[in-house]
Amino acid sequence: LASIEVDVSSLEPGMSLTAKWRGKPIFIRNRTPEEVKAANDVPMADLKDPVARNANLAADAQATGVDRSAGKDKENWIVMIGSCTHLGCVPLGQAGEYNGWFCPCHGSVYDTAGRIRKGPAPQNLAIPTFSFVSDKVIKIG
Ligand code: FES
Repeated sequence: LASIEVDVSSLEPGMSLTAKWRGKPIFIRNRTPEEVKAANDVPMADLKDPVARNANLAADAQATGVDRSAGKDKENWIVMIGSCTHLGCVPLGQAGEYNGWFCPCHGSVYDTAGRIRKGPAPQNLAIPTFSFVSDKVIKIG
């Protein structure tokens, strides 16, 4: 299937689910205001990978909190390919030093915007092409 539709209506703030798309896990998280703020408060200079890696934006878009999210009016939502950019393990959610994602294979630490902050992974978790087809359904691909 080229694209999938995922019903996210059951996700209250702080909850997440993992869908499957093209054989890969897709992390969808409804971030809490605190998680959004934590990501937005990080100075760009602190980022190991300053590029958004967001397939919905220009290739050189910067990894700001909003450009890692579903956009300004849906900033609580984050959608990412759940494959560590080091060697492809599946990171664990709400884990690690920044309470974002943590890869148990070699210790890469991602923040609440899925940006790589520590460990061997070179890039932020990739964001696939996606859009909201309604308030509660996300189309991926
Ligand atoms: Fe994730 Fe190596 S595969 S840290």
